[in-house]
Amino acid sequence: MTAATNNSSISTPNAPEQAVAVRLVGVQKIYDSSRGRHEALKSVDLDIFDGEFLTILGPSGCGKTTLLRTLAGFEQPTKGDVLLDGKSITNVPPNERPMAMVFQSYALFPHLTVYDNIAYGLKIAKVSKEEITERVEVVLSIMDLVGLGDRLPTQLSGGQQQRVALARSVVVRPRVLLFDEPLSNLDARLRDQMRSELRRIQRQLGVTSVYVTHDQTEAMAMSDRIVVMSEGHIEQVGNPQEIYRQPESLFVADFIGKANVLPALITGRVGQQAHVELLGTSVAVDVSGDAGTGITMVVRPEDVSIFPLASPNDHHTNVTDDGVLEVAGWLRASEYVGAATLLTVELGDGTLIESVDHHTAALGPESIPEEGSGVVARLPVDALRAVRDGR
Ligand SMILES: Nc1ncnc2c1ncn2[C@@H]1O[C@H](COP(=O)(O)OP(=O)(O)OP(=O)(O)O)[C@@H](O)[C@H]1O
Ligand SMILES: [Mg+2]
Repeated sequence: MTAATNNSSISTPNAPEQAVAVRLVGVQKIYDSSRGRHEALKSVDLDIFDGEFLTILGPSGCGKTTLLRTLAGFEQPTKGDVLLDGKSITNVPPNERPMAMVFQSYALFPHLTVYDNIAYGLKIAKVSKEEITERVEVVLSIMDLVGLGDRLPTQLSGGQQQRVALARSVVVRPRVLLFDEPLSNLDARLRDQMRSELRRIQRQLGVTSVYVTHDQTEAMAMSDRIVVMSEGHIEQVGNPQEIYRQPESLFVADFIGKANVLPALITGRVGQQAHVELLGTSVAVDVSGDAGTGITMVVRPEDVSIFPLASPNDHHTNVTDDGVLEVAGWLRASEYVGAATLLTVELGDGTLIESVDHHTAALGPESIPEEGSGVVARLPVDALRAVRDGR
């Protein structure tokens, strides 16, 4: 088992020091069952900062729930250590961890009123009657449930039940709140509303929160930081802008939003900059690797713009003085979806490039070239990113 490290804070060049609430060190989880052995977590290292809203995002089966249950103590890691405020809690049972879990099924007591559901944990903890009344009143107000204290859960809407479940978790003042896809039972409109409610409540309480979802929009909208997981390991940790604008792997670029994936080859380098052969031309980009190394580059569709060919015979590929890679092709598809037009360009070698045109003042939907016509796709070189491809 890894020993507790003594530095309980971490610093990055541009961010102030942030206190670490929870630290995972080399956490591995192997499930042994009659069906075989499955490594659900592969040596996960992660710091969760005090007061932050951290989201664990990834496809089904990648280990999100396992990670959350390991934090809560419902799963014991096969290897590694879980620290809370610098002390190991790996061997502390769930009921002795100052954490509360909010589930997808609200798990309210059906025969108890809203008030008694919320008060339940405080009664168990033998908190005085006066204090219980005071604390329940406060959370009823924060959760916008004033006046509903006497109702039974069946007399509430889905969103109200969800808020009671949350109230019951926060009233005990946990050090860490854990959420496992709490909104996935709600219809789309209510989900959006609860998303901002939940975020507001979390900010107001300032409680360290770990939120599991497979919904990238939810993760982007709610989180201070996002942990992207795939097959039991962490692909990338960053704030929503970093995860979207600076994906480090093809998996992240592809899982969060859309990406044009372009194979490229390093042909030489001058210091930091590599000369890279891409779409039949050479561009200089910041990427490591020796000449002869094949790399994968990505560019977001909204960074690509499409223009009509200046003349029908102008099948050039070049990099302009202001750093834009221009490549000729023909417009294979154009889909008007209201707020934007989605364009697909096919290049001479069959490569498809997607573009999202948001109808800026310069280029309205009327001025989008016709399907089948010759076009130029413009890719700003500084919007191209080299990413890790596979592991
Ligand atoms: N008790 C168990 N015994 C054996 N295998 C398990 C057990 N619990 C989970 N697994 C396996 O571990 C892997 C990770 O499961 P986990 O529930 O953590 O995924 P998840 O990311 O939460 O997925 P979802 O989005 O579907 O909820 C899956 O392959 C799952 O089948
Ligand atoms: Mg799960």
